[in-house]
Amino acid sequence: MNILQETYTLSNGVKIPKIGLGTWQSKPGDEAYNAVLLALKNGYRHIDTAEGYQNEESVGRAVRDSGIPREEIFITSKLESHIKTYEGAKKAFEETLEKLGFDYLDLFLIHAPWPWSEMGKNCDEGNVEAWKAMEEFYKAGKIRAIGVSNFDPNHIKNILDNTDIVPHVNQIGYFIGLDQSKTIEYCNQKNIFIEAYSPLGIGYLLDNKDIQNVAKKYNKSTAQICIRYLLQKGTAPLPKSTHEHRIIENGDVDFEIAADDMAFLDTIKGDPRRWE
Ligand code: A2P
Repeated sequence: MNILQETYTLSNGVKIPKIGLGTWQSKPGDEAYNAVLLALKNGYRHIDTAEGYQNEESVGRAVRDSGIPREEIFITSKLESHIKTYEGAKKAFEETLEKLGFDYLDLFLIHAPWPWSEMGKNCDEGNVEAWKAMEEFYKAGKIRAIGVSNFDPNHIKNILDNTDIVPHVNQIGYFIGLDQSKTIEYCNQKNIFIEAYSPLGIGYLLDNKDIQNVAKKYNKSTAQICIRYLLQKGTAPLPKSTHEHRIIENGDVDFEIAADDMAFLDTIKGDPRRWE
């Protein structure tokens, strides 16, 4: 089986394809539309979008135009980071479905624990409100799995302490050199699946000489090493590209990085100025 057809199983039994196409920074219109269409043509069955990316309409249109049955494709979207009320979350989710043109979603996430414009603000109450709205849609069968994104353990604990459903997913920025061990360890304990966005460090890891050397050894591209590394960590990488040859390359990762090379990649230190 090709890796694009392989799945992980979330805590509620829902299957999620191991690699998804990221669409953050894919422009609404032709760019996002073509990227999604090309990904689906080349075997991807998992597409990640968000209200905040403003490309849901293009993503939905590409999915429909692909001719592939909706139920064969796993689609994620995310509640905008500033929406922290029950009513606001309900309205926003309905709008997401309308923009995508679907009657259900596979995964819906709270995009961030705080508005992007007020990073670090305590929104514990608002996150619980938004979560309760998402729980209702989940119970009504409108969303097959619900989760969070960019949540640290304390943000997740707030949800666990005050609501019924344990998030199925936490989608975080995760790539070689970025230490996410505390969040990953906590999520593993709670059976919360990790998705890795920006698996190439938004592209900057491609210049890393150490990763390039590992790539040469395996006769693979640097991007393929970055993506394969995250798969071997048991996470679902979401590489973003708008170019067909890269979309194909990023999904062509049916190989194994040996344990000693994984350990070497673990030692690479990130450059926080390029990320945080
Ligand atoms: P583009 O969309 O023009 O192909 P990340 O997924 O970590 O956010 O990284 C996305 C960035 O990396 C984008 O700039 C994307 O550019 C670029 N990119 C994606 N896949 C590859 C690849 N296989 N080789 C080189 N650059 C890539």
